[in-house]
Amino acid sequence: MAPMIATHGLHKRYGATHVLAGVDLAADDGTVLALLGPNGAGKTTLVNVLATLLRPDAGRALVGGYDVVREPQRARTVFSLTGQYAAVDDLLTGRENLRLMARLAHLPAATGRRRADELLDAFGLADAADRLVRTYSGGMRRRLDLAVSLLTRPRVIFLDEPTTGLDPRSRGDLWAVVRDVVAGGATVLLTTQYLEEADALADRVAVLDRGTVIAEGTAAELKRRVGPAHLELELADGSVRRLPTDGSVPDARRLLAEVEAAGLPVAHWRLATPTLDDVFLTLTGGAHGATAPALEEVPA
Ligand SMILES: Nc1ncnc2c1ncn2[C@@H]1O[C@H](COP(=O)(O)OP(=O)(O)OP(=O)(O)O)[C@@H](O)[C@H]1O
Ligand SMILES: [Mg+2]
Repeated sequence: MAPMIATHGLHKRYGATHVLAGVDLAADDGTVLALLGPNGAGKTTLVNVLATLLRPDAGRALVGGYDVVREPQRARTVFSLTGQYAAVDDLLTGRENLRLMARLAHLPAATGRRRADELLDAFGLADAADRLVRTYSGGMRRRLDLAVSLLTRPRVIFLDEPTTGLDPRSRGDLWAVVRDVVAGGATVLLTTQYLEEADALADRVAVLDRGTVIAEGTAAELKRRVGPAHLELELADGSVRRLPTDGSVPDARRLLAEVEAAGLPVAHWRLATPTLDDVFLTLTGGAHGATAPALEEVPA
C-alpha cells in the first residue's frame, strides 16, 4: 500500500539558508506522523510544501498519491491544513465562521449546519458559538481554526503546532479529536515542539533539525536510542541532577556512591525512563544544548 503522505529528497533554500536539505518521510493511511523539531527546523516549510503553498526546489512530495507540484488541484481535494497561526474571521461568530467555510466547501446547507454544531461541541465552543470571534481567547480561536479544517472530513490533515498556546485541558480535547479523526480513517501529519504530544498521539515520529530528518521511528524506538534510563537525584540543598544509567542495581549503587563521595548528599532518588526530550537532546546534542553531562544540574 502506498503511503498517504510521502516526500522524497525534498529541498528548499532561502538564499544561503538550506531550510529543507533532503527530507524523506512517509505516513501510512490512518496513522499519525509527528514532526518534531525546534524553532526554525523547517517544520512549517515542509507542511507548506505538502499543502501546495510552497514549491520545493528539488525532490517530490505526494499526498494521497498526488504529486503536489504536478497535480496541486487533485492533491488539494485530499487534505486540509490548519496553519501555525489561526485563520478565522474576527467579525463573525464561531458558528458563522464554520457555516461560511462549510458553504465555501460546497457542503449541503443542512449538512454544514449539523457539522458546525457537532464540531462546536467537540471543541468545547458550544457556549461561545454565537459570540464574535474577536472576543475569543487565543486558545478558543485555535480550536475554532481546527474545527474549520475538519468540516469536510478530509482524508489527510496537516496540523502545524496545533496545541501551541492551548491550556492542558484544551490540549487534551484536541488530542481526543485527533484520535477520533484517525479512528475514522484519516491520516494526520502534525508538527509539534511538545515531545509528550508526539509520544501521546503519533504512530511514528520524525525528528527534524536544520532541514534534515535526524531520526525516525516509533516513540519507543527513539527512546531506546537514548539508553534505558536516568537516575534522578534530589540533593540535600533541593537541587536536582540526572545521571545516565543502564538501570541495573550495581550501576545505581555506583552512581549514588560517586555523588556522595563528591560531597553531594542525596536526599531522594528515582529512576526516570527516557522522555522524548531526552531523545531530542541526545540527537541534537551540541547544537541546541549538549547531551546531559554527568552531574549537570537540571531545573527541578
Ligand atoms: N519566506 C522565507 N524567507 C526566508 N527565510 C525563511 C522563509 N520562511 C522560512 N524561512 C527560514 O527557514 C527556516 C525554517 O523555518 P520554518 O518556519 O519552516 O521553521 P519551523 O520549524 O516551522 O519553526 P517554528 O517552530 O518556529 O515554527 C528558518 O530559519 C526561517 O527563518
Ligand atoms: Mg513553524
